[in-house]
This record gives sequence, structure tokens and C-alpha cells, in this order.
Amino acid sequence: MGESYETLESFLQEQRLFPPSAAFKKDAVATAEIYEKGKDPEAFWESMASELHWFKPWDRVLEWNLPFAKWFINGKINASYNCVDRHIQGPFRDKTAIIWEGEPGEERTLTYSDLYQEVNRFANALKKLGVKKGDRVTIYMPMIPEIVVAMLSCARIGASHSVVFGGFSAEALRGRINDAEAKVLITADGGYRRGKVYPMKQATDEILKDTPTIESVIVVRRVGETLQMAMKEGRDYWYHDVVDAAEDYCEPEQMDAEDMLFLLHSSGTTGKPKGIVHTTGGYLTGVYATFKYIFDYKPEDIFWCTADIGWITGHSYIAYGPLLNGATQVMYEGAPDYPDRGRWWSIIEKHKVSILYTAPTAIRSFMRWGIQWLEKYNLSSLCLLGTVGEPINPEAWIWYYKYVGSERCPIVDTWWQTETGQIIITPLPGITTCKPGSATHPFPGTEAEVVDEQGSPVKPGGSGYLVLTKPWPAMLRTLYKDEKRYIETYWGRFPGKYLTGDGGKLDEDGYFWILGRVDDIIKVAGHRISTIEVESALVDHKAVAESAVIGIPHEIKGEAIAAFVILKEGYEGVPEMQKELAAHVRKEIGPVATPETTIFVGELPKTRSGKIMRRLLRDIATGRALGDISTLSEPGVIKELKQKYESEEKE
Ligand code: PRX
Repeated sequence: MGESYETLESFLQEQRLFPPSAAFKKDAVATAEIYEKGKDPEAFWESMASELHWFKPWDRVLEWNLPFAKWFINGKINASYNCVDRHIQGPFRDKTAIIWEGEPGEERTLTYSDLYQEVNRFANALKKLGVKKGDRVTIYMPMIPEIVVAMLSCARIGASHSVVFGGFSAEALRGRINDAEAKVLITADGGYRRGKVYPMKQATDEILKDTPTIESVIVVRRVGETLQMAMKEGRDYWYHDVVDAAEDYCEPEQMDAEDMLFLLHSSGTTGKPKGIVHTTGGYLTGVYATFKYIFDYKPEDIFWCTADIGWITGHSYIAYGPLLNGATQVMYEGAPDYPDRGRWWSIIEKHKVSILYTAPTAIRSFMRWGIQWLEKYNLSSLCLLGTVGEPINPEAWIWYYKYVGSERCPIVDTWWQTETGQIIITPLPGITTCKPGSATHPFPGTEAEVVDEQGSPVKPGGSGYLVLTKPWPAMLRTLYKDEKRYIETYWGRFPGKYLTGDGGKLDEDGYFWILGRVDDIIKVAGHRISTIEVESALVDHKAVAESAVIGIPHEIKGEAIAAFVILKEGYEGVPEMQKELAAHVRKEIGPVATPETTIFVGELPKTRSGKIMRRLLRDIATGRALGDISTLSEPGVIKELKQKYESEEKE
């Protein structure tokens, strides 16, 4: 564990202020009136929606039947039309939409009209394979332009996409395909990561026998000859074959504003990932407006969001937000340290990136690697920096500001979630005076509070639960096939208030500070993992009797996974077993969920009613004084655990 990782205390003592510079303010897209306008959310969001193309306008802006929201009632709209067709009819026809860089170094550029052609053809190909409005299509691909094409093609014909992060295992993919009951799987032969080829199609073959709803598999050739795989006659098709054979034009479906645009699984507080449902009109409006104002978007900008499309950040700020705005964006396939640790900076220099949107975990890695990697490159094209995914510690904020932005670029620390669909708490560059570590204020037209145990707003200076108190257009509408869980998870705790699952603090100046999750979700390098998901994977192994998983502070990743494991009779807690369990979790979920530390124990601390007291495990793992142990059924357990943990740490 790192020495320099700051504590919550130092976070909250941060006093430095960073007002926007006069130079930035002068040309900023958002001006102070935007907060005035946001005071009437319906009027504000209506004006944002009217900047998009609608086949038929809405009758009413919002129907709020708590906790069910409908936005832009009876409006008809198509996402792919708005991302592509709208631009090629205007001056952006030949504007570059995507500058793609493959990890091995190749480059591809797609203009808006290239994207239009590809999307139309692939949409037709999907139709030919029997995909219809209302169907679900699972996408499991590396970061290549075809992933955006695939998403927009689904949207064009009214099918909902369900993208599964390419770093998840085939097992995790299986669960998500079956939950979505997807008809088609779109994948690739493989991808590149740190100079190595990893197979995708071959990996999916193992699970396709257990996904009864899949009728066809479409495979993009990314890697080529080196990967051996079988193509099953009548089920598997090459992407280039089906696209080549398809007609040029596909009429976009006129979708109801409330039709499901996509489904995205995210970890919840039970083992089963939640299928988060996003609909069309409100989602597009939310991501369109937030992209425009938060990233201070101007037509000449080159935007780069480093997230993977498999996460919500990639959905909202690679696939939809930039394209809705007609932006040019960079998309990069691989790792930040391949072939060396200067790769990102070389990309910024080469493509003259002006807006960079990344995660604190990446910034912390760069801090550790040293500024010599940045100094080799000209980063003067950068105008604005953003972060997302986890709290950014002030030390990392300052480093980002100083070394990446040369004290010239504002930083937008954007707080949001898979569920919120769009950024909710964020500075607006050109307006907000930033405090490093604080996501500052709710975006215009949205509202947040920090509340106490009873649900009453805390006074400035207080901390508690972060909740959202007004519906917003890109909010999730429900959990797929699980309305009950939707109501309970988000609306069950405080009547009328959306529970984010995060702790928050409101400071004396009314700034919001996000204190991290208050539930059993951990953020490993910004990736959302539920402790229960990892526990389920562990107990699924034949040697494991019981396990408890917690998040522990980690210098680079923010949090890492520590697993306490009780082995069954006859198995030994040896290093080989640690390795075996780690490999097992990787297979079940994916590398992001691999425990950093596995400690074999004889007992777990439990209450008398049998609940594992994770709080005590956290105290042990972080070396804190133990909290209240009066409810512990076997107080002796703690001593053994402490000794075990400490001896493990020393090794
Ligand atoms: O804990 C918060 C953290 O990420 C969670 C949402 O994770 P996910 O659904 O994977 O979406 C991540 C990308 C939008 C939140 O509940 N989080 C996200 N952004 C921030 C953050 N924590 C602090 N500061 C942020 N800027």
C-alpha cells in the first residue's frame, strides 16, 4: 500500500481556489445565465432538447410519477439520425468524426459521411439477420471504430444495445447476454493490449452453447490471420461480408422518446449485475447538453475520452455526446504504457487534442511514472481537462493541472454514475471557481443534496448521503426486468430522493465533496465492482467455504480488493492457492476483479445474527483502531485476523 495516498482528512482540508482565467472566460460556451435558466429545469431541458432533431415534437416535457420519469412525452426521435444524418446535411459532411489509433500504431480516420455510410449498411445487415425494433443486441468488442458503428446501427433500427466491457470474461458475458436475451452478438476476432493479441471470438465460443437466445454472431476482423477460430456455418458471419452485401440506405426508425436506447449492466450490492435501462429522448438531451457546456465544446476542438466504451463514460462521452455535437474525437485502442509510458502524450501531440477526459487512477499512474514522459511532447493544444470515475485526491488534481495543463487548462471533476447517464455534479469551465477534490455543484437543471440518516439536508459543513432530488432527462428509467429492485435500491431509503450510494459533504461555501461509496461497491481503478460479486466468484471455487471481500486504499487504483477466505477441510492456504483463486476470479468476472491480497483465515467476524462485519475487516486492513465490537459473536476471531493480516502484509 502506498505511503503518499492522502487521507480523507487531507481531502477535506483542501483550501486552494482556482477561479477561471480571464482568457478562458472570454470565449467560454457556458455563461453565468445558464444557472439562472437551470432554475426552471423543464424549460431548460426543453430548450436543450430542441437543439436536436425530432421527427415529431413532444406534447409535454416531463411526467414525474415518482419514481418513474418520462421525458418528452410522445416525441419521436432517432439517436443515429442525430449523431450522423443531421451533420452530413450541414457543413460537417466531411468533418472528421473519429480519429482512431490502434495500439500497434495504425491510424484510421472516419468523417461524418464515412460513419453515415457504415452505419446505414451495418444497420441493413442487422435487419437482414432478423434484428427488429425492440430486440436486444450484445456488443463485446475492443476499442475500434466498429464498436461505435455497431451501437449506432442498433439505434438506427430501434434495437437496444447491451455493450459488455471487452475486459470482462466470457463467463461475465454469458450472464449479461442471457439477462438481455440478446438475439445477436457482435464481437471481434480479438484485440491488442500491451503488444499482445487477446482472443475474443474464440473466448465467446466457450459460452455460446449456453446462450439460447443468440441466433447470429457477427465478427469484426481486427487481428487477422494470427488468430485461429472456428466460424460456425449459419450462425457466425464476418462483419465485412455482411456490410459489403448490404444496401446503402437504411431508413431510421422513429423511436418514441421513452423507447429503450440501451441496457448497460453495472455492479450492484448483490452478486447479480443490474441491467440499467436508458431510454432515447431524455438520454440524448442530457448527454448532448452536458458535453457541450461542461467540455466547453467548440467545432474546432479535438476531444479525447480515454474510457472504454464498455462503461457508461464511453457510452455517453464517446459514442453519443461528442457525435451529437458534431465533434471530432480521438479513440485509442490500447494501454497507456505501450510501447512506452509516453503513449498518451504522443497521441495528444500528434492529433492536437484540445480536451482530455480521463480517470484519477490514470493520473496517479502518470504521477508515479514521472514528468519526464510528458516533457518529451508538446501538449500546448490542450485547453481543458476532465476527470471521472472516483474521487480525485487534491495532490493528483494539482499534478494534472500543473504538468498536463501547464496551469492554463481548467479541470472539470465530473461526478455521475451509470444510472445517471449524464454528468450531474461538475464545475462549468469559465464560471466555476474550482477547489481541488470537489466536484463543485450540480449541473443546471439538476439538483443534489447531502442528507443525514433521516433524509434531512445537512447544514453547510455537514456530511451524509448524496441524493438527487429532481428527475433529470438521462436518468435510468428502471432496472431491466426488475422494477422492484429499481424502486428498492434507489428510492427505498429516503422518500422522493434518489439514493446515489455515495457519501458526500457540503462545505461552508456550498461545494459538494464526494466521499466514496457507502455501500458494498468498490471502485478499482475507477471500475465498479461489487464485493458480493467477487465473494460469489470465490465461493464458487471448490476449495472455498466462505469469503468476505472489502476495498482497501491503493495508491494508484484508488481502491484495491482484499479477500478474506475460509478454505474447506483438506485445502491449504498456500501461495499456489492464492494464485489459483485469483485465476478463478479472473475467469468468472475478469482481470479488474482480481484480489490484490488474499488472506486465509479460520473464522470471519460476524454479528450474533450471522452477518459478516466488513467494517471490522476494513479496520484491520487499514490499520485503524477497531470500531465497536460489542455485537461480535466471537470476539477472539479479531485477534487471529489481525495477526494473519499483519503477517501477510510483511511478506
Ligand atoms: O462512487 C462514485 C464514483 O463512481 C460511481 C459510479 O460508478 P459508475 O456507475 O461505474 O460510473 C462511473 C463513471 C460515470 C459513483 O457512485 N464517481 C464517479 N465520478 C466521480 C466519482 N466519485 C468521485 N468523484 C467523481 N468525479
